[in-house]
Amino acid sequence: MSSPPLAPPAQPDRPATSASAAQSSGSPTVIRAAGVSKKFVAYSKRATSLKERFVRREGASGEDFWALRDIDVQIGRGQTVGLAGANGSGKSTLLKVLAGILRPTSGEVAVNGRIASLLELGAGFNGELSGRDNVYLNASLLGLSKREIDRLFDSIVDFAELRHKIDDEVKHYSSGQYVRLGFAVAVHVDPDILLVDEVLAVGDEAFQRKCLDKIAQFRSEGRTILFVTHSLDLIENMCDRVLVLETGNLIYDGQPAVGTKLLRQRLGSLPVEGGAVPYDLSPVKPTAVTFSRDPGGAPQVQYDPGEQLTVSVELDLTDHAPQHVYLHVDIMGQGEVPIWMMETPPGGISPGSGIVAVDFVVPRLPELLGAFAVSVRVSDAATGQPVTVRRFEDLFGVSGPQVAGLLRVDYQAGLRR
Ligand SMILES: Nc1ncnc2c1ncn2[C@@H]1O[C@H](COP(=O)(O)OP(=O)(O)O)[C@@H](O)[C@H]1O
Ligand SMILES: [Mg+2]
Repeated sequence: MSSPPLAPPAQPDRPATSASAAQSSGSPTVIRAAGVSKKFVAYSKRATSLKERFVRREGASGEDFWALRDIDVQIGRGQTVGLAGANGSGKSTLLKVLAGILRPTSGEVAVNGRIASLLELGAGFNGELSGRDNVYLNASLLGLSKREIDRLFDSIVDFAELRHKIDDEVKHYSSGQYVRLGFAVAVHVDPDILLVDEVLAVGDEAFQRKCLDKIAQFRSEGRTILFVTHSLDLIENMCDRVLVLETGNLIYDGQPAVGTKLLRQRLGSLPVEGGAVPYDLSPVKPTAVTFSRDPGGAPQVQYDPGEQLTVSVELDLTDHAPQHVYLHVDIMGQGEVPIWMMETPPGGISPGSGIVAVDFVVPRLPELLGAFAVSVRVSDAATGQPVTVRRFEDLFGVSGPQVAGLLRVDYQAGLRR
């Protein structure tokens, strides 16, 4: 697929702010990506050794898939850059490549300064450790000494509003609590460059506000920020510049006002994931998934086989939402293989408008070990017309006795001559 010509590099033309000196086109480049492409082989997504056995059969032919194609971008010190594009356009992949977590298939990345990133939910956290230990682990990975972390610890915990849970293992945290802790660490390590993926959308509104205030503060301090957002408002109000990705191509790099206009056009006309409306414009938005034993119960992320699991999908419906809404939920293994699926009755449900939760109760989890994510597809039950699709990065885990494989299967071993 050929890409439209690239827009010229950004020349931020906003009025001067307190960080204006750093935003002039002459500011030193702190991130430089040249000719960056990233190829994935289908089924290799985040394969863990356990699952690799399952999804990567010997000789299985994986399809090559380009998640990023020939991306050239330079970001100057002090810029606040929004990264936008439809689901699957490559935003998270680009952040990971810039953060040095993924190696590009070709091309080069150079970074000048300390990067702190808040990427996927729980990335960088060890579920078996307490929040306290994870703060130390994470901050030291970002280059802080124990003494420095001791000094910042209270402030991190207060920012995350997790004092009451800080000595609990983080596997018992809700997805919102994960994000709060991750963001709190990222902003306390005095980074020159902050990369933030969509995860902020997981937190509650008050916390999102707090994060945005922090981003604004960073901006006024002349730090460099690159964050993924679907919010056209945020792009227009907080960014000096916007990068728009479409199927792995950088189709625009420049002024927020122009970028948001382009986004509206492209998203409005593009067939996104099977003809669905892009998330931002959708009259029914799956805003969160949560996991608990019982509907409405306390959030829980770790389960034993045989336990009950409730997957709750929160929907935000506008007045234009279809009257009968059909939901399809895929429980995804880490090789992007759907492990099982659940759906509402074909006639759909009638949620009305506002915020509702749809609970899917699994009375007994199978002996299926690993960590699983959720993808939600919404359609209009009356017409079958797709409405939107959202893949959540929140994971729940099923633990069990150590086995070498994905499933535990009963068997007997015997010798025969
Ligand atoms: N590890 C991986 N293996 C295979 N495909 C992947 C992997 N990571 C991402 N992808 C695919 O690359 C594309 C871009 O993904 P991503 O960067 O997560 O998009 P976005 O963040 O814009 O939604 C998607 O089609 C996604 O399924
Ligand atoms: Mg993403």
